[in-house]
Amino acid sequence: MSTSRRQFLTRSTLAGAAVATGAAPALGATSAAAKPAILGGKPVHTGGWQAWPTWKAEWEGEMLKVCRSGKWNQAAGGAVADFQRRWAELMGASRCLATSSGTTALITALHVVGVDAGDEVIVSPYTFIASYNAILAHKALPVLADTDPTTLNIDPASIASRITDRTRALLPVHIFGLPCDMDPVNAVARTRGLRVVEDACQAWLAEYKGRKCGTLGELGCFSFQQSKHIPAGEGGAITGMDGDLVDRCDSYHNCGRSVGNFKGSGFFTRGSNFRLTQFQGVVLLQQVDKLVAETARRREAAAYLNERLARIPGITPVRVPENSRGVYHLYPVRYEATGFNGLSRDVFLKALNAEGIPASSVYKEQYFDGIFDEVIASRGFQRLFPAERLKAFRASFAELKGNRATCAQVVALPQTVLLADRPALDRVVEAFARLQAQSAALVAAKLKA
Ligand SMILES: Cc1ncc(COP(=O)(O)O)c(C=O)c1O
Repeated sequence: MSTSRRQFLTRSTLAGAAVATGAAPALGATSAAAKPAILGGKPVHTGGWQAWPTWKAEWEGEMLKVCRSGKWNQAAGGAVADFQRRWAELMGASRCLATSSGTTALITALHVVGVDAGDEVIVSPYTFIASYNAILAHKALPVLADTDPTTLNIDPASIASRITDRTRALLPVHIFGLPCDMDPVNAVARTRGLRVVEDACQAWLAEYKGRKCGTLGELGCFSFQQSKHIPAGEGGAITGMDGDLVDRCDSYHNCGRSVGNFKGSGFFTRGSNFRLTQFQGVVLLQQVDKLVAETARRREAAAYLNERLARIPGITPVRVPENSRGVYHLYPVRYEATGFNGLSRDVFLKALNAEGIPASSVYKEQYFDGIFDEVIASRGFQRLFPAERLKAFRASFAELKGNRATCAQVVALPQTVLLADRPALDRVVEAFARLQAQSAALVAAKLKA
């Protein structure tokens, strides 16, 4: 382990949590002894969780105004421009550009920092597939750094060995809205002359050392897709501190038109249509205050769960860097079967779901799923990269030990669970504790995942 990584681990705190004591949670003996629902017992939680997204009747007036105005596209300024100003202000960014999705925000930002066909971009492997796809859209190679299983984010110490003379940029991801350790990422970029785009698509209002995620690299990208904390069905944004870079993004997302200080090579330069509509702008504007209030609630709930779940053998909360705060698009913990008499993570998840607690394993080692075999076999990539480079790229997946451990350990609850009241959060803890107490019986039942 490198010095910087060691220092990071020492300095890190458990996302606002007490350190695991190994002691049993405060759980009534009767509840711990109760038969798990998957073995025919009564589920810990019934009645479900908050539906998502939510809509308020008081938002309808503003939406109707847009419908009746006939000014539906971004050119009208209106709600899209207002949202851009509001989002930049909230993020502490100098500018914000709204886009049609998080994916198109990433494609745009990568173009603007100069990612081109035949380049390489180093990316966190533990992410939604769109992070890889945005790089592939430029016919560039997404080179996978490793994951730190204690943070679920990119292990900064794994970046340097992945740099080649084709590397153009780094694409760290703040996964689940947990800030990744950006200082060492930016330091590598500075010393090796690389550009940095943040995938903050799950990290609205997350903070790293007092600054908002999405303002720590050169450009930061957000998603407002249906499941997100501030959803518009689809939608995205790019934030930046350098207005000229954001002008370039604006141009690229608007068919390559000249924008602000960016004149391109005449009236049009290369670009696409990645614009947001006014309907989406209105929906986003209405939800800003709600996002701020709900983020506080999610943080409080996550700290509460961290403190209690850390007492259960086999469950470890996730670390965030010091002086940093996550926003929990999902609430993850690490599950180790050794604390559960060898009960597999997937059977544990099934048993947890049977208790009425929604949870999933989220991302797997998706680079083995065929996407990169297709890339390597494609005419375009074969023209752009030497065969030995593509072979070494494929072989490098076997080195991703931290990511393999991460994919095998994560158990994550949806963000809506964090919006529930205290008694419901206590039932979440109770379900984990019950399954731990009953893990020998669950193993003996030989359940299939
Ligand atoms: C980490 C990450 N990156 C990129 C994206 C892409 O965003 P969108 O779905 O808005 O295109 C998402 C969306 O789920 C995401 O979670």
